[in-house]
Amino acid sequence: MAADKTLTIIKPYAVKKRNLGAILAKIEESGFRFCAIKTLQLNKQDAEAFYIEHKDRPFYDELTDFMSSGPVTAAILEKENAVEDFRFLIGATDPSEAKEGTIRKMFATDKAHNAIHGSDSDESAERECDFFFSKRERL
Ligand code: RTP
Ligand code: MG
Repeated sequence: MAADKTLTIIKPYAVKKRNLGAILAKIEESGFRFCAIKTLQLNKQDAEAFYIEHKDRPFYDELTDFMSSGPVTAAILEKENAVEDFRFLIGATDPSEAKEGTIRKMFATDKAHNAIHGSDSDESAERECDFFFSKRERL
């Protein structure tokens, strides 16, 4: 996979609050192209597998309960320097520390319910895109 892709998930509360359209518009306005997109609900095992890097952290159970609590929308995004630029667009993990204009500042509830995920490296992006999408589901 080319290194200009990243994987996002619009998390359960943001979907439930009907912020999905506004968040997708903000992503598109910021220069990202949608290569794949789907709405689905993860089960607890799916969420544990997706966030496996955090399995020994104290928040792992809460995180994976939350991520499997309702529908999410996952998408593969393309842009030059996608991973870094998208992390900048979403803002800090804790929305109280996120800069004005970032997606987490605009739409997150709190650190545990921070509206959106973005891959943290090209290696993570490749793994995460493969987690959600088959080859024939993406451009
Ligand atoms: P994400 O993976 O969801 O894009 O978030 P991130 O990279 O900004 O943060 P990460 O360290 O990967 O943590 C994953 C998610 O776990 C929750 N978290 N809670 N209670 C805590 O100290 C804590 N730390 C992280 C957050 O919801 C974070 O998005
Ligand atoms: Mg992360």
